[in-house]
Amino acid sequence: MIGKTLAAGAAAVLGAAEPARKVAMSRAVAARWRRGEIEMGRAVAPARPARPERPLLRPPRDMPKRRNFGSPAGRIALLHALAHIEFNAIDLAWDLVARFSNAGLPRAFFDDWVAVASEEAGHFCLLSRRLEMLESFYGALPAHDGLWEAAATAHDLVARLAVVPLVLEARGLDVTPEMIRRLERAGDCDSAAILDRIYQDEIGHVAAGLRWFEFACRARGDDPVAAFHANVRQYFTGALKPPFNRAARDQAGIAPAYYETLACAAAPF
Ligand SMILES: [Fe+2]
Ligand SMILES: [Fe+2]
Repeated sequence: MIGKTLAAGAAAVLGAAEPARKVAMSRAVAARWRRGEIEMGRAVAPARPARPERPLLRPPRDMPKRRNFGSPAGRIALLHALAHIEFNAIDLAWDLVARFSNAGLPRAFFDDWVAVASEEAGHFCLLSRRLEMLESFYGALPAHDGLWEAAATAHDLVARLAVVPLVLEARGLDVTPEMIRRLERAGDCDSAAILDRIYQDEIGHVAAGLRWFEFACRARGDDPVAAFHANVRQYFTGALKPPFNRAARDQAGIAPAYYETLACAAAPF
């Protein structure tokens, strides 16, 4: 049962713990929405999405910081960490759909986040299949328990979009090209190709984040750049880390005025 409306379907995906089920339900709800078979509806998003028994979740400080890409174990650790990020990204996209189902947003908002949710499910599948080819699987290692904290901004669409697509996913654009180069240098071109595919899609996720962030700011009469700065300072701990991937950020439409002063203002000394 995946719900009679998009909002109910989104809430049902959030309530699915097992990865295979979360992915299958994501695809089914997205397909029904695209075909016009379900109405928008309304739903209440759960405070936290359901999680499988594995991976075991550990505090971020207990997670390894540096990985040796030259060893299969190091690459498995990287792919596992990325699969976990994508697993959370599936829920973050559906959470936007369910949580803001009663906010009077245009249909195009839901079209965008349903498309993002479905791409995140695809990313998770690419990474978990790759882990299996390397004789591991998602759940084999412990994973970071801090990712759902981004949803602390759940009360406010502007805050949520500032932190999730415009800080966290934009950060992904900054760091992924170097990971791709390191995987290629280690001879793991199959994993590199998966990261490249994800990277291309993530440019679109940042672009969607920016589009709806600016829409929501303008609806309130707020200047988007000033609102971004205020929300990041309030809800994101730490500075934005340079170097920024200016080319990818430009492609997503996010101007340097959004991020450069935040990096400088809070640079470590
Ligand atoms: Fe993704
Ligand atoms: Fe994404």
